[in-house]
Amino acid sequence: MSSPNLLITGVTGFIGFKVLLDSLTAGYTVRAAVRSISQSQWIPSHPRITALGVPDKLSFVEVPDIIREGAYDQAVKDITYIIHLASPLPSPGLDPQTGVYEPNVKSATSILHSAIKEPSIKKVVITFSVFSNILFPPDGKEITEKSRLPDVPGPFDSTITAYSAGKIGALNAAEKFIKDNNPKFAVVKVMPGLALGYDERATALEGISAGTNRMLLGIITGKTSPAPFPAGVGDVADVAKVHLLALGDGVVGSFGVTKRNTFDEAWEIVKRHFPKAIADGIFTQGSQPTIPVDWNAHQTEVRFGFDFKTYEDAVVEVANQYLQLSGKKGA
Ligand SMILES: NC(=O)c1ccc[n+]([C@@H]2O[C@H](COP(=O)([O-])OP(=O)(O)OC[C@H]3O[C@@H](n4cnc5c(N)ncnc54)[C@H](OP(=O)(O)O)[C@@H]3O)[C@@H](O)[C@H]2O)c1
Repeated sequence: MSSPNLLITGVTGFIGFKVLLDSLTAGYTVRAAVRSISQSQWIPSHPRITALGVPDKLSFVEVPDIIREGAYDQAVKDITYIIHLASPLPSPGLDPQTGVYEPNVKSATSILHSAIKEPSIKKVVITFSVFSNILFPPDGKEITEKSRLPDVPGPFDSTITAYSAGKIGALNAAEKFIKDNNPKFAVVKVMPGLALGYDERATALEGISAGTNRMLLGIITGKTSPAPFPAGVGDVADVAKVHLLALGDGVVGSFGVTKRNTFDEAWEIVKRHFPKAIADGIFTQGSQPTIPVDWNAHQTEVRFGFDFKTYEDAVVEVANQYLQLSGKKGA
């Protein structure tokens, strides 16, 4: 086993698994921090991982409580780079305050508390969200990677309001930590829109809706959501790519990964690309109302010299994966 140079947290997740694959492909030796080693045993034997043929480049460390100060002290030992993705999405089973808000805010600083004690660290990349910068209700003004909001006090009546406040609080807490402690390592903040696209983890149909693709699948499989959701999506491949590019020499600051979208356009896209699947009743029209948000992440495209994938790209990837995993043809 070569000595790990990159610590990644959140590798069991939709974005984290793609970041793990891309990091191993790029030649990093990865230490993956997981909540439970026993529940992460599927990773080394996952076909996408075994296909890379680098078993000596991936090891695991257990971090059961990500919000405890010092939680990552062992995990960061002798590490050069950190990509920190672990934190909960707004899931209905979680308590808004303790299950969503607090872990989002505190996990951003707990990684910094551990990193600052470890002299080998050169860079920490932390995943925030477009929600770190979106005022609710949106006031129609353009939002960029430079936009900042004051902390939002609880209590929170839903996991989504707790998540939004958690992502605002996480960004503010991390920036305060950096200002107060002036760490020797560089920090990069990544702000993705709703992550959609090919889910590398999924090997069966049930797996494809484990992440945020669930919302998109609803629109093309006949589900109607009563709750509007803010616009702005990032293809998971681009989100992962920006995390890796963020490790480059001289890259510091904040980077949005999002494109404006209207969720219900997914149905028009599916109609264009998969007429047979519609005729066969595999895809049926649902609806997800959109709250318009003007989040402009073009600076990230300029900085890294590539164009983000479109909403259409993400819809086609998800619909194709759905058909592939259900063993059906749809074009
Ligand atoms: N998906 C999106 O649309 C989106 C958009 C913007 C930002 N983000 C941010 O990107 C990051 C990754 O998102 P994702 O879509 O990959 O989410 P995900 O699929 O739900 O994965 C979340 C990851 O964080 C870990 N985690 C969650 N709560 C934890 C806790 N309390 N203690 C320890 N580990 C915990 C999970 O580990 P377990 O497997 O052990 O639960 C998993 O590895 C998150 O910070 C999220 O807020 C996501």
